Amino acid sequence: MSDDKVSSNAAIDAALRLDGDPDKVRAYYDDWAQNYNLDISDAEYSGPAITARLLQQNLADTAAELLDAACGTGLVGVELHALGYRTIDGFDLSDSMVEQARVSGVYRQLAGGIDIMHAPQTYAPGGYAAVLAVGVFTLGHVPPEALTVLLQLVRPGGLLVMSTRTHYYDQTGFQQLVDALIADQQIELIKLLREAPYNKDGAGHYWVFRKSG
Ligand SMILES: C[S@@+](CC[C@H](N)C(=O)[O-])C[C@H]1O[C@@H](n2cnc3c(N)ncnc32)[C@H](O)[C@@H]1O
Repeated sequence: MSDDKVSSNAAIDAALRLDGDPDKVRAYYDDWAQNYNLDISDAEYSGPAITARLLQQNLADTAAELLDAACGTGLVGVELHALGYRTIDGFDLSDSMVEQARVSGVYRQLAGGIDIMHAPQTYAPGGYAAVLAVGVFTLGHVPPEALTVLLQLVRPGGLLVMSTRTHYYDQTGFQQLVDALIADQQIELIKLLREAPYNKDGAGHYWVFRKSG
């Protein structure tokens, strides 16, 4: 990998350079949607499987209502469904990614064209037993503050289960925001997997937060 590349996979590398601009992100993923699953499997992406297992370890009720934020092509929903969860909603900025997710047949409800930062305009506050956000707290996508937005959608006592790419964690104020939310007793950190497998280019951290209730 040359020094100016973040990933050895050209499609992933370009995605990490979208500057968090929703128009760029939407256009990029609309274009990538057809090939995303293939490219991602080449990259040995383990985010969806690890996150789904973390949910299973902390939420036994397979009828619980789950929201897969930035669901993409539905890889997280497929993993959750394989573990027995049956009430999974999902949304994403990219309509074309959501079209692919629809093909999986594992979601109750899907919506495209929704920006995480504005999701509370669509989803009721405190509506979900757990919200999952996998592969989106990564460079060029969303700021750490997306965490506080997603927390609004979790019911009191519910879970937010998510990944952060290691280089995102290292280059943003994510930890400072987590520390502030914990100090303010808004969340509790239930589990943290540090430097766990993410893809063949590097590691990620996986987080399970419980919203105070
Ligand atoms: C790397 S993909 C991950 C998709 C899926 N969660 C997975 O693990 O395969 C990142 C996804 O985040 C979506 N995304 C990026 N920024 C977003 C935002 N602000 N609001 C909603 N979705 C966003 C993209 O459209 C894309 O589908």
